[in-house]
Amino acid sequence: SMRLRIARDAAEHARLAADAVVSALPAGRAPVLGVATGSSPNGVYAELARRVAAGEVDLREATAFALDEYVGLPVGHPQRYRTVVHELVTVPLGLDPARVHVPDGGAPDLAAEAAAFERRIRDAGGIDVQLLGIGRNAHIGFNEPGSAFASRTREALLAEETIADNARFFAGADEVPRRCITQGIATILEARRIVLVAQGLRKADAVRHAVEDAPSPAWPATALQAHPDVVLVLDEEAASLL
Ligand code: GLP
Repeated sequence: SMRLRIARDAAEHARLAADAVVSALPAGRAPVLGVATGSSPNGVYAELARRVAAGEVDLREATAFALDEYVGLPVGHPQRYRTVVHELVTVPLGLDPARVHVPDGGAPDLAAEAAAFERRIRDAGGIDVQLLGIGRNAHIGFNEPGSAFASRTREALLAEETIADNARFFAGADEVPRRCITQGIATILEARRIVLVAQGLRKADAVRHAVEDAPSPAWPATALQAHPDVVLVLDEEAASLL
C-alpha cells in the first residue's frame, strides 16, 4: 500500500523522509540501504547526515546500493553516480566506502556487471529501505517508460525527456550519456520499504500517474502500487494533482 506524507516546506519534507528511512532500519543487525541520485533526495541526505552527526543514527556498519549509473562517462567525471554518491551520501552519512556499491558503468561486460550487482544485493540479504526519486515520465532509477515490471539490473537507454532533464548537470544535452545500467523494477520492488520523494510542480503529473493510474509500463512508478510498504513523501506542489 502507498502511504502519503505531504510536507509544508523543505525542512519538513526532509524530516518526514528521514523518519521513513530511519524507522525502516532493522534492530540488531547492520542495515542495507538503497540510495538514489538526482536532486530530490539531497535534503533527505542532509537531514540524515545531521542525525548521524548528532549520534541519533549510526550507519558505520551499513551497506548501500545505488540504483543506477551512466555508461560511458570517463573516470573522474563529476556526474558519475559513483562520485555523486560518494560526495552526497557516503561521506556525509559516515558510510564505509568499501560497503557502498554503485554499478560500474565502465565495465567491459555490462551484462556480467549487472548480474554481479544483483548477486551483491542478494548476498547482503536484500535492501531494507530504498530511497527513490521519480522522473517527469515516472521513471524510477533509469527504468524508463516501457520497462518491464519483471526487469532486473541491466543496461538500458535513457528516454529523450530524461536526457533533456539531466542536461542541467552537464554542459548540455549532447554531453548526457545515452546509456546506463540500472536496477530493474523487480529489483527495486524487492526492497522491504520504499521511500519515494518528489517535490515541485514539475513532478505533479508523474506523481498523479504513479498513484492513480492502473499499473502499466507506460508510467513505471505505477509498479510501486503492488509493493506492501511504500511511503510517498511529497511537498504540496508535487501532491497538487492528487
Ligand atoms: C535521474 C535518476 C533517478 C532520479 C530522477 C529524478 O535521472 N536516474 O534515479 O530519481 O532522475 O531526478 P531529480 O530528483 O533531479 O528530479
